Amino acid sequence: MRPNPLRDPRDRRIPRLAGPCVLVLFGVTGDLATKKLLPAIYDLANRGLLPPGFSLVGFARRDWQDADFAQITYEAVKAHARTPFREEVWQQLREGLRFVQGEFSDDEAFDHLARTVAELDFERGTGGNYAFYLSVPPNAFPVVVRQLKRSGLSSPPEPAEGTSYRSWRRCVIEKPFGHDLASARELNSMLAAVFPPEAVFRIDHYLGKETVQNLLAMRFSNTLFEPIWNRGYVDHVQITMAEDIGIGGRAGYYDHIGAARDVIQNHLLQLLALTAMEEPLSFGAEALRAEKEKVLAAVQIPEDIATGTARGQYSAGWQGGIPVRGYLEEDGIPPDSTTETYAAMRLTIDSRRWAGVPFYLRTGKRLTTRMTEIAVIFQRAPHLPFDATDTKELGQNALVIRVQPDEGVTLRFGSKVPGSAMEVRDVNMDFAYGESFTESSPEAYERLMLDVLIGDPPLFPRQEEVELSWMILDPIEGFWANHDKPEQYPAGTNGPQSADELLARDGRAWRRL
Ligand code: BG6
Repeated sequence: MRPNPLRDPRDRRIPRLAGPCVLVLFGVTGDLATKKLLPAIYDLANRGLLPPGFSLVGFARRDWQDADFAQITYEAVKAHARTPFREEVWQQLREGLRFVQGEFSDDEAFDHLARTVAELDFERGTGGNYAFYLSVPPNAFPVVVRQLKRSGLSSPPEPAEGTSYRSWRRCVIEKPFGHDLASARELNSMLAAVFPPEAVFRIDHYLGKETVQNLLAMRFSNTLFEPIWNRGYVDHVQITMAEDIGIGGRAGYYDHIGAARDVIQNHLLQLLALTAMEEPLSFGAEALRAEKEKVLAAVQIPEDIATGTARGQYSAGWQGGIPVRGYLEEDGIPPDSTTETYAAMRLTIDSRRWAGVPFYLRTGKRLTTRMTEIAVIFQRAPHLPFDATDTKELGQNALVIRVQPDEGVTLRFGSKVPGSAMEVRDVNMDFAYGESFTESSPEAYERLMLDVLIGDPPLFPRQEEVELSWMILDPIEGFWANHDKPEQYPAGTNGPQSADELLARDGRAWRRL
């Protein structure tokens, strides 16, 4: 068979094992590091995906020695790793742990960091390959990146004479990538002045989730879904990310961001793009990103933002039988804050496949439950040859991709109720990961961390996607900034009434949380 000349052959050649390298983690004392990143590193080591010399350098302000950092890592692994604890794996990992103490503005600390990684190259054969993971507040990105350049850490040395070996340097940043289009561009030019585009890995951890990748497998490995995946059959799509938690200790971050920037600009628009995109030429970075970008560029926001969007802010209420504070009473939140903790909107996509099909997006904190799903709701059958009373319990067919926590897929369709009448009622057919597979799914951060170390980019959004997503959100944020406060909704409920009204005006209703 003739290979497709437009397919990049590199897409299939990447080995799924990391080579020798050092991971430098900024922000080791943060929640993300202790709950997700450090455990993910251990899980990768435990699965045999890291080389024996793999080394991890923590950088933070704390007055710690290597042993203190090792202790924190040990505790994080014990508490949050997905795979069983094995002493020999831990010991091997532990030998490669180092800690560098310092402020981001401190030149000497970064020079110390440069000496530390050079020593690791010598002692553990890490080959001058460094990944810098910036798990720090976005306002610290510029100073850290500047320091990486100043200390010479950001660029690999020229290959030694007579050899072609060139080490690599990579920079990993977490969303949000800016807080609007202008700041995203600013952030990008700051990064681009130091790292080439292919060395920047932007993490949107939703793309690392198995269930999100399964969207691609489901759509493009089957014949069943694709013929009906369009405006001819789909009535609308609902993409939901509901959380039962509040903002926890993240007031400083959250109050400047709000639900739409925190979740819709990245996670939910990525889910929308994967749901709506055309079949890519391959699952390589170039092809995949190009298809997502076409969708994002074709997204239309509601003409009337007031009625086509909704936002809310949680007030005091009950969560799992416990009384909880309202957003305005949370520590560190100004009592007159207008930041939304719930956001919903109706988007459409100007394309032949999707013209006229609404995509409803919603996210919120302190809702009844934690649940992320993509629900594709199909049109009603054009004709029902039944008595009206026999189909009163028949809803619309639906395909629901349960992203979390109960990972799987549900297909809802009508079925005859046993008995002598021709009564038809909705039933569900279910695929659950837990029942179909014996192995548990890797955590999103395991997959993403490994991809960074391997240098495999498809799961990382590139700058174009980030900008296109801000172009969708910016006008909505601008409108909200000049209008009323978000509507209050009691903690532990389904969100503000205006979100229900948004769908009711279109003759639809949100799926139950
Ligand atoms: C993060 C948001 O990106 O995703 C948080 O900043 C949110 O506000 C978190 O709580 C949810 O992630 P997950 O994987 O638990 O759905």
